[in-house]
Amino acid sequence: MTSMLSIRELTVDYGHRSLFTRRTPALALDRVSIEVVHGESLGIVGESGCGKSTLAKCLVGLVQPASGEIRLEDRLLTTRRDREHRRRVQMVFQDPSASLNPSMTVGKTLAELLRVHRLVPTERITARVHELLDMVELPAELAKAAPASLSGGQKQRVGIARALALEPDVLIADEAVAALDVSVQAAILNLLRRLRHELGLTLLFITHDLAVVRQISDRVTVMYLGRVVETQPTERFFANAHHPYSRALLATAPRIGEPAPPVPLRGEPASLHSRPPGCAFHPRCPSAGAECGSRDPELLPITEDTFVACHYAVPGSAR
Ligand SMILES: Nc1ncnc2c1ncn2[C@@H]1O[C@H](COP(=O)(O)OP(=O)(O)O)[C@@H](O)[C@H]1O
Ligand SMILES: [Mg+2]
Repeated sequence: MTSMLSIRELTVDYGHRSLFTRRTPALALDRVSIEVVHGESLGIVGESGCGKSTLAKCLVGLVQPASGEIRLEDRLLTTRRDREHRRRVQMVFQDPSASLNPSMTVGKTLAELLRVHRLVPTERITARVHELLDMVELPAELAKAAPASLSGGQKQRVGIARALALEPDVLIADEAVAALDVSVQAAILNLLRRLRHELGLTLLFITHDLAVVRQISDRVTVMYLGRVVETQPTERFFANAHHPYSRALLATAPRIGEPAPPVPLRGEPASLHSRPPGCAFHPRCPSAGAECGSRDPELLPITEDTFVACHYAVPGSAR
């Protein structure tokens, strides 16, 4: 299987220097490396503030990394202006309203995009707009609708159509169903699943919701304070997560129809400005040992396809 997206040692620093203070780094991403193969669906999970959106923004060129590299197939995605390669990675946002111009009809929005990017000849634009609406299971009449008249689910379908208009290879969904009702969520997840297979898309699905990731991802990557702490194939992750943070997330994930989980995850992630020494999770970790407060664990393979950054993760084992 060939690599579609290769993220190597990606670091983003939001720290800034003011006139009176020394510059303190604020690493939203700290040497993050992730490989995504052609046609794969990778779920990226972690609590709010772990750097998931920063990662997504780097991939679409909205945030400039301090160091590291991103490759699309074998091409380095370096400048914001690398238009053709940027086109190939598209994002669907949490709030579809924010990405739709309220004064333009749905059809006009899509048509503008096709025109600006010269994706189809002018005489084909209307037909292509209808095709795109059909792909996201919206009726052609909706081309005449204003965004304000759409439901949340319809808006998100338009958001997906917008991304698809650019004929991407990689689709990044950043909390794309978080704002929707559960039944609408399920419909959008089904749509994404179908589109992924039909169009051969590579999907990066970012969410804080483990139930969602389980439905749509082949593999799960867990982030904590700007680092990857675990990566595993999905089913194995849910059966046997290795990192104490992953286990805590699984233990605290609400299940439909069940009361609140008994052992909530203690505390909150530290701020970027006061990252704990050693393993950043150790102050909250139920199984932290002496070295965890001083030595930083590396992300290492436990088995061929399982990577864990924990001093207590045992190679070759299912702890
Ligand atoms: N533009 C920014 N300037 C400064 N700090 C930021 C900015 N964007 C995000 N952050 C900080 O970076 C960290 C990661 O944020 P984010 O990538 O949005 O995480 P997530 O999507 O996992 O919730 C958070 O601590 C957040 O406050
Ligand atoms: Mg986010």
